[in-house]
Amino acid sequence: MSEPLLPIPSRELPVSARAPGKCIVFGEHAIVHGAPELVFAIDLYTQVFVRPAAVTRLNGDAEATRRNPYFASALARAWDSGAPVEVRAVSRIPRAAGLGSSAAFAAALAAAFGAARGGVDRPTLARTSFEIERGAQGVGSPGDTTAVVGGGYLAINGGEGEPLWTVPGGYHEWRVRRVPDPGWVWVVAHSGIPRSTADAVRAVGRRLSAPDGPALLAEFARVARDGIRAVGAGDRRSVAELIRRNHELLRDAGVSHPRLEALIEAAAPASEAAKLTGAGAGGSIVVLPIPGREAELVRRLARAGGLPFVVRPVGGAELVDAPTE
Ligand code: MEV
Repeated sequence: MSEPLLPIPSRELPVSARAPGKCIVFGEHAIVHGAPELVFAIDLYTQVFVRPAAVTRLNGDAEATRRNPYFASALARAWDSGAPVEVRAVSRIPRAAGLGSSAAFAAALAAAFGAARGGVDRPTLARTSFEIERGAQGVGSPGDTTAVVGGGYLAINGGEGEPLWTVPGGYHEWRVRRVPDPGWVWVVAHSGIPRSTADAVRAVGRRLSAPDGPALLAEFARVARDGIRAVGAGDRRSVAELIRRNHELLRDAGVSHPRLEALIEAAAPASEAAKLTGAGAGGSIVVLPIPGREAELVRRLARAGGLPFVVRPVGGAELVDAPTE
């Protein structure tokens, strides 16, 4: 995995950059309210190609700045030259699936624009990518954008040692720390049900303002804190228990979905534990497989109607060779 603080170097247009998706193991939703989260970058990518043009377009669409709030937000926050650019974007990350497609698009564009503006260090890239996503989405934490910029396993608002960087935002300053990689593979599966992160975040916000909301948030935080420690120590048994507990809390928070429950049930014979990952209300699950039974798990999930991927942690956003024409 590449060194997390390696900056994005300077490069002239045309520039190509890619950023991975992400998988949240512990703490989605609760992170928005200041609790810890554990997330890792996954080996599914969004790649962008940026070149000078007469008219700004995204995948040939000259109306994209009006139609795509993430594209408009990236141009406004990371491309201050204002010169028109042609952007092509390709992605293997299913959209609106809880696997970080919008964070990867924001970070890949910010990396390409940052390179063309003389290079950019990684903490700045993480902050800019968060501003792009937040500008388009209106709500949320820097967890997703941090994951896809930093790569590997990262704890936000948790973990031990010196932070790699901090991300200011609203009432909170998020601290980002590296978590040792236990060397595991995971399986994620998309339910095929698209959902809106912003709607799910607002619904959980309402749930947490109920009289028992503070106790629920405290339990989310405890599970994530213990989970960060257990993953860092390679303690699979504790991780499995905490994953199951985290899913119960997310169910209580109202963001599970019958399709997610069906996928978790289908995964059970070949899994140590499973939970929803990301915003929920549709989207995806993450499964800790029984080692050696990943292929069986993938078959089970596909038979149950999911779109499964075997994933492992990878490095964060990076430049790639621009296409030659
Ligand atoms: C979405 O991937 C994760 C949430 O916690 C929202 C956020 O942190 O921005 C649900």
